[in-house]
Parts: sequence; structure tokens; C-alpha cells
Amino acid sequence: MACCTYCWVLMGLLGISCEVTRTVDKMCIEFIANRSYSCEDLGLEQIPEYLPFTTEVLDFSFNFLYALQSPTFSKLEDLVSLDLTRCQINWIYGGAFQSNSHLETIVLTGNLLLFLADEAFTGPSHLKHLDLTQTGLTSLEFIPMQDLGKLETLILGSNHIQSIQFPPDFPTKNLKYLDFQMNIIQKISANDIAILKKTSNLTLILKGNNIAVIEDRAFSSIFFYSLNFGGCINISVILDGLQGAETVVLWLGSFEDMAHGIDISVLMLQGICNISAHELNLQYHHFSQISAGTFQCLTKLQKLDLTHTFLKMLPPDIVSMNVLKELHLSKNDFMLLCDISSAAFPNLTHLFIRDNSEKLNLGSGCLETLSKLQYLDLSNSQVQSSDCCNQELRGLSSLRHLNLSYNRQLLLHNIAFEECANLVILDLAFTQVTTSEPEGPFRNLHLLQSLNLSYCQIGSSIQYILQGLESLNVLNLRGNNFESGTMLNDNVFRQTPNLEVLILSSCKLPGIQTKAFYALRKLKHVDLSYNNLIAFSSDIFSNLRSIYLNFANNKIRIIPRDMLTSLSGKSVINLSYNPLECTCSNIELLTWYKQNIDKIEDSDKTTCSEPKSLAGIKLFFVNLSCGHHTAQIILITLVVIAVIAASLILITRFLKRKYQHI
Ligand SMILES: *[C@@H]1O[C@H](CO)[C@@H](O)[C@H](O)[C@H]1NC(C)=O
Ligand SMILES: *[C@@H]1O[C@H](CO)[C@@H](O)[C@H](O)[C@H]1NC(C)=O
Ligand SMILES: *[C@@H]1O[C@H](CO)[C@@H](O)[C@H](O)[C@H]1NC(C)=O
Ligand SMILES: *[C@@H]1O[C@H](CO)[C@@H](O)[C@H](O)[C@H]1NC(C)=O
Ligand SMILES: *[C@@H]1O[C@H](CO)[C@@H](O)[C@H](O)[C@H]1NC(C)=O
Ligand SMILES: *[C@@H]1O[C@H](CO)[C@@H](O)[C@H](O)[C@H]1NC(C)=O
Ligand SMILES: *[C@@H]1O[C@H](CO)[C@@H](O)[C@H](O)[C@H]1NC(C)=O
Ligand SMILES: *[C@@H]1O[C@H](CO)[C@@H](O)[C@H](O)[C@H]1NC(C)=O
Ligand SMILES: *[C@@H]1O[C@H](CO)[C@@H](O)[C@H](O)[C@H]1NC(C)=O
Repeated sequence: MACCTYCWVLMGLLGISCEVTRTVDKMCIEFIANRSYSCEDLGLEQIPEYLPFTTEVLDFSFNFLYALQSPTFSKLEDLVSLDLTRCQINWIYGGAFQSNSHLETIVLTGNLLLFLADEAFTGPSHLKHLDLTQTGLTSLEFIPMQDLGKLETLILGSNHIQSIQFPPDFPTKNLKYLDFQMNIIQKISANDIAILKKTSNLTLILKGNNIAVIEDRAFSSIFFYSLNFGGCINISVILDGLQGAETVVLWLGSFEDMAHGIDISVLMLQGICNISAHELNLQYHHFSQISAGTFQCLTKLQKLDLTHTFLKMLPPDIVSMNVLKELHLSKNDFMLLCDISSAAFPNLTHLFIRDNSEKLNLGSGCLETLSKLQYLDLSNSQVQSSDCCNQELRGLSSLRHLNLSYNRQLLLHNIAFEECANLVILDLAFTQVTTSEPEGPFRNLHLLQSLNLSYCQIGSSIQYILQGLESLNVLNLRGNNFESGTMLNDNVFRQTPNLEVLILSSCKLPGIQTKAFYALRKLKHVDLSYNNLIAFSSDIFSNLRSIYLNFANNKIRIIPRDMLTSLSGKSVINLSYNPLECTCSNIELLTWYKQNIDKIEDSDKTTCSEPKSLAGIKLFFVNLSCGHHTAQIILITLVVIAVIAASLILITRFLKRKYQHI
């Protein structure tokens, strides 16, 4: 901490130059009165006087502080969390936080720190989180450790640290999270990290470092929660160093925008035999060849992520992975679902095979052994089936969540998910669904709560497709064509009496039958936007207490008062993008609207279309004075009577005068 004469000079220069860039007059935003404030990006050069001394949370990011000294935060004695991201801070002097004894979090991201005094962090005796991302650090020695004994989180990402030689007073007692991502660490020796033996359940992030050498067994007998070597090129290097280590999560994956590094061979994965890990991530790597032996050291895993690993199959004689619960095989190249050799994972509960690059053939009984499977994601995998899905999903009696969205075409005959009677969530969105019989394909799914049939081209089969769905809570029918408005008659929704959320947007609906929703007494959220409706009708719903009605993007021009007054206090309506008339024939809406603006969603986009002079004006700002009709009529009648009476009087006088002379 020598360079100080220069520092003062530099600081002086900077101090002068920033007077110019000063912008003023903007106030910090208050989130919680007297407690939480944001002064983000206000061009400030000091802490505003008006911040109360009771402030606990302060976001002061993107301002100009240059140097922190003891008076800087001295008034804010209650501070708990302080964000100083990108404040051009170069110097932190001793005692900068000495008045802030409650401070737990300091974020210094994006400040190029040239000087940190030994007493820089003196004061806060419970400092837990220190973020030094992008601060130009080259070595851990630069950080004064003396007051950091209670640290739980230390973030050192995106710096120029070359070696993780921890100083002897490095705080290990409470440390839970240590992040070195995107530094230039190439070598790790056993000595470097020996001090981490004092930690327990630590998360250590080393991703984005180009690690070339780790001393053999350097990590042995350290107990980690998570070890992240993401983006490593040669997995062997890492595994050699990790011999004897214990961790819950081992993250060795790569990333989409990186070369996938050196192919993983059978031999390489042998290294995992002597590492204790529950969860392993190998995403975006390439396997040189897959054989039964590949997985022989992975049998103790509970979770395995092989997303985007160019897999065409898993070998049929693969060793049994009895404790595996969760398997990710998305973004691979399977042709047949049977090629994942599911019999090897008898205790699987979660399986993900989405975004498969090939047209995935579901085969017959390929997942039959997975009687504990609860969650199956087969979305966006070009699935097509002409007799879905009894044979395909045979044996999946525990299945609760099934995602078949974004596939090609499914023909459902008779009962489609016979053995999956425990389904709670079924997503078929954007998959063409064809049914062949006038009997509901889902009629055994009495527990189903959420069904997504959006853009499924179901059309007239809506008449019977909901049969048996008596627990259904959420139904999404967006993007189906119900152009013939009679399709949605009162029989359709009588089958789903527990519906709370109903989405019928973009269905080309010309109108709605009066009784269509009458059976739905629990309805809370109805989306009828993007249809061809000309009327806003609230009387079609049987319960108007706190309901959400979206009628946006329809063709509604006039709304009579009685459709509006029945909406109770907590209801909300969205009428945006309708060609509403702002003339006297719509005065009932206009009056109600101003009095009930709290019930309107998107009032900015609720505008007039007629008359032309008001087109585009927000409804709220329209001032119409439409005379009261009766008053007008009485007035006119009175005037007419007065005129007639006057003329009569004049005529009689004229006549009297004329005939007086005779
Ligand atoms: C905030 O502090 C002021 C002055 O101390 C006090 O009058 C006010 O009641 C406080 N407000 C809240 C919400 O605590
Ligand atoms: C270990 O750390 C993880 C993540 O920080 C936490 O979820 C877990 O509860 C911790 N386990 C123990 C035993 O402290
Ligand atoms: C990967 O690392 C191991 C040792 O850790 C080394 O033996 C091997 O040659 C490396 N592979 C390549 C292709 O560099
Ligand atoms: C695992 O460790 C033991 C002894 O520590 C050693 O004998 C064995 O070769 C190691 N296995 C692998 C696959 O590295
Ligand atoms: C996994 O399945 C096997 C038999 O298929 C059974 O014996 C074992 O107890 C199960 N293990 C767990 C952790 O569920
Ligand atoms: C099903 O998968 C799609 C795309 O992968 C996703 O957008 C959707 O949220 C999933 N559905 C459910 C119910 O999780
Ligand atoms: C289908 O609808 C459900 C419930 O609204 C939602 O969770 C899911 O993400 C939707 N699926 C797609 C593909 O959008
Ligand atoms: C009102 O409905 C339109 C059309 O569905 C939607 O785009 C808009 O986001 C909604 N407004 C709000 C505030 O959600
Ligand atoms: C209606 O009156 C309000 C205040 O009286 C005014 O702010 C607004 O501009 C007026 N609207 C139009 C379209 O003149």
C-alpha cells in the first residue's frame, strides 16, 4: 500500500474532472419508508443529506464516489446492505465503514480498486457478504483479511487472479460461498487450498478458468457442497486433483458458446470412482465412445445431467444406477425412446428429454420399468404418434407431470393415458391433437389440475374432450379455432366445475353463448383477448366477486352500465385495444370508467376510436358533457309554448286594435 503520493495527485485530478459530469435534482427512490432506498445512476458524488439515519438498505450503484473515507457513510449507522457497483471507487481508506457496525453486505463490483487500507473493513463486525467482482484484483493478498472473520460469501469473479494462495488469516469459519469464476488460474497445488480443510459444505466456483494442472489429490478430505469447474477443457486434469474429495454437486459441464474440449473417454470417467458426489453435470461435452463401462463409476449418483452431449443412445448393458433420481438427456440425438435403456434407472423420478434433435419415436413400453417416474418432459422433440399414448407410456403409474408440448401430431384413441391416472399436469401446447371418438380421451384423469391445449387444433372436439376432468383448475385453450361460436355451449364446461383459470384468447370467437360459463362458479381469471367479440358481457359469469376479465383486442365499441356495475370491488378488467366510442351513446362507460380506474388494467392502451377528433385519446382523459335528455326536452317545450303564447297575444292585440275602429 505504498503508491500513495501518486494516489493523492490522481485523486485530486479526478475530483476536479467530475465536477463537470455532475447531474443533479433527481431524488433517490424510497422502497420502504426510512429503511430502503435506491439512488442508482443519479450522478451523485456523495450520500444525499436527506437519507434518514435509519436507512438499512442502500443501492448507490452507478454514481461517482472515487474514494471512501470515514465520513462517507458515517451518518448511516443502521446500514445493513450497501451496493456500490460501478461508482468509480479507486481508494478505500481505513475506517471507511467504521460507523456502520451492522453492515452485512458490501458490493464493490466494477470499481477499479487501487488501494485498500488495512483497516478498510474495520467497523462492521458481522460482515457476511463481500462482492469484489471486476475490481482489478491480481492477488488475494491485496484484500485485508483482518476484519473479515465472519465472512460467508466472497465473490472474486472476473479479476486477474493467477493463483489461489490463501493468506494464513483467510476467514474459513463461516465461509459458505467462494467464487473465483473468470480469473486466470491455471495451477492449483495442495498447499494452495489446504486451508479449505477448515471449511465445511463450501460452494467453490472455479468456472471459466483455464485450469491446466491440479496437484494429485489436492482436494482430498475437503467436504464441499458444490464444486464448479464449468468450461474445463480436459476433465482428467480436474478429476486427478479431486481424488478423495467429497461434494454434493460436481459441475464439470461446458457451455454452448465454447468448444466442447477434449472428448470424454471411458478411462477419464474412472476418476470419479474415488470421488464422492451426488450430482454430476457434464453438459456440452462429447463422449468419444459410449460403452457399458462408461457409467461404471457413476452408480452412486442421484442426479446426472447429460444435456447436449451428442448422445444417440445409452448402451443396453449399462450398469444399473439404482439411486439415480433425476436424469437430464435433453438436446441429444435419440431416434427411439427405448435407446435410453431406462431399465438401468429403476428409481428415476424425473426424466428430461426435451429439444431432441431427431424425430423421437416413443416406441412401445420403453419406460415401462420406471414405475416411480413422476415428471416426464418430452417437449419439442418432434414426437408423432398415430395411437397415443397407452403403449408408449405403459407402466408409468406414478406420473404426475407430463410435457408433450411443441411436438408434431398425436392421435388419441379411446382413453389416451390409461395407466397414468395420477396425472396432475398435462401440457400438449403447440402439438396437433386429433381425437377419433366422441368420448373424452382424458376421461380417466380425475386428478388432472392443469391442461394446456393451446394451439392444438382441437376445434369441435372441445364438445367432449373435457369429459371426466372434474379436478381441472387451469385450462388453456388459446389459439384454437372456435369460429362457430356455438361450440362453446353450456354443456362443455359443465364437465369441469372446478375451473379457476380459463384462457380462450386468439380463438376467433364471434360471441359467447349466454350460459356457456354458467357452471363455472369458481372462475377467477378469464382471458378472452384477441377474439372478434363485439360485446363486453359480464352477465355470462356466475360469480363476479374478484374476477379478472381480459377482453383486450376485441371489437367492443359500447358498454352499457349494467354490465359494469355488477363488477365488485376486487375485480379487474382489461379493455385495451378495443375500438371504444367516446360519444354520448357510450357515456355510461365513460362515467363508470373514471370512477373505477382501480379496476382497469392497461388504462394507457384503453383509448377512443370515435369520434375522429378524439381517436387515440386515453379514455380517462375524455371530458364529455352530454345534456340530460329530459331537461333538454322540457326546456325546448317551454320555449315553444312561450313563443306560441307570445304570438297569440300579439295576434289578438293586433286584431282587437284593427276591429276597434269598426
Ligand atoms: C420515518 O421517520 C420519520 C422521522 O423520524 C417518522 O416521522 C416517520 O413516522 C417514519 N416513518 C415510518 C414509516 O416509520
Ligand atoms: C450446504 O450448503 C447448501 C447450499 O449453500 C445448503 O442448501 C445446505 O443446506 C447446506 N447443508 C448443510 C448440511 O449445511
Ligand atoms: C488431459 O490431462 C491428462 C492428465 O491430467 C493428460 O494425461 C492428458 O494428456 C490430457 N489430455 C490432453 C488431450 O491434453
Ligand atoms: C481409488 O483409490 C484407491 C486408494 O486410494 C486406489 O487404490 C485406486 O486405484 C483408486 N481408483 C481409481 C479408479 O482411481
Ligand atoms: C432402488 O430400486 C431398487 C430395486 O429396483 C431397490 O432395491 C432400492 O431400495 C431402491 N433404492 C432407493 C434408494 O430407492
Ligand atoms: C413444457 O415445456 C415447454 C417447452 O419446453 C415449456 O415452455 C413449458 O413451460 C412446459 N410446461 C410445463 C407445464 O412445465
Ligand atoms: C401451458 O399452460 C401452463 C399453465 O398455464 C403453463 O405452465 C405452461 O408453461 C404452458 N405451456 C406452454 C408450452 O406454454
Ligand atoms: C391487457 O391485455 C393485453 C392483451 O392480452 C395484454 O397484452 C396486456 O399486457 C394486458 N395488460 C396487462 C397490464 O397485463
Ligand atoms: C379533460 O379535463 C382534464 C382536467 O379537467 C384535462 O386535464 C384534460 O386534458 C381534458 N381532456 C381533454 C381531451 O381535453
